[in-house]
Amino acid sequence: MTSHPEPQQPAPAAVDAYLSDLLAPADEALAAALSDSEAADLPSISVTATNGKLLHLLARIRGARRILEIGTLGGYSTIWLARALPADGSLITLEYSPRHAEVARANIARAGLDKVVEIRVGAALDSLPQVADEGHVFDLVFIDADKVNNPNYLDWAVRLTRPGSVIVVDNVVRDGRVIDAGSTQPDITGTRAALQFLADHPKLEATAIQTVGAKGYDGFAVAYVQE
Ligand code: SAH
Ligand code: DHB
Ligand code: MG
Repeated sequence: MTSHPEPQQPAPAAVDAYLSDLLAPADEALAAALSDSEAADLPSISVTATNGKLLHLLARIRGARRILEIGTLGGYSTIWLARALPADGSLITLEYSPRHAEVARANIARAGLDKVVEIRVGAALDSLPQVADEGHVFDLVFIDADKVNNPNYLDWAVRLTRPGSVIVVDNVVRDGRVIDAGSTQPDITGTRAALQFLADHPKLEATAIQTVGAKGYDGFAVAYVQE
C-alpha cells in the first residue's frame, strides 16, 4: 500500500500572526504596552491580540459602559477593553502586584485612558467588597487573575452585574489539563470549580471555547447573565 503523508499544517502561531496583522493590528499604545511590560520583566501572559480584539468587540456588542477586570498585569487587555467604552464609560481593574500596577498605569496613560481606567492595587478578594459597597454595576467582567480563586471571582461577578451583562473567564483549558478530574494543581481545581459554577448557576448561561495561537493551547469561557 502506498502511504500518503499528511501535508504539513501551518503552525497555529503563524495563523494567529496572519489574523492579528489583518484584524487586530497593534498601534503605538498597544505595542508599547507589550514592549514596556517585557522590559519591566512582567510575565508574557497578556491575552493575544486576536483575543484582546474579541474582548473589545464583546464590550461593544454589549454596549458596555462599566467594565470590571480582575488581573491587570501591564494593562494590555485593559486597553483593548477600555477602548470599547463610550465617552462617559469607566473601567475598574484589580491588580495584586504594585509593580505590575505601576507598569500598567504608565501604559494606560500613554494610551490616553487614564481618565477612564481606575487601577486598584491589592488582592482582588480584598478589593471586591469595597467595589460592591460603592454600588457599582458592571456590564462586562473579565476574570484573568489567580485561577485558584476563579469560583470566588465568579460569585462576585454575579453580584456585581445585572441581567444582560457578560462575564468572560480566561485560561480555562491550560493545554488540556482542565479535563484532569484528579488534578491537585490549584489552577486546574479552581478552573474546574469555576466551570462547574457556570454550569450550575441558574442566572448564568455559558460556554467555553478552546483556543490555539500565539500563546499556545488554552481557552476562555463566556457567560451571559440572565433574569
Ligand atoms: N489581563 C492581563 C493579564 C493578567 S495576568 C492581560 O491579558 O493583559 C494575571 C495578573 O493577575 C497578574 O498581573 C497577577 O499579578 C494578578 N493577580 C494574581 N493574583 C491576584 C489577586 N489575588 N488579586 C488581583 N490580582 C492578582
Ligand atoms: C497564566 C496566567 C494568565 O492569566 C494567562 O493568560 C496565562 C498564564 C499563568 O499564571 O501561568
Ligand atoms: Mg489570562
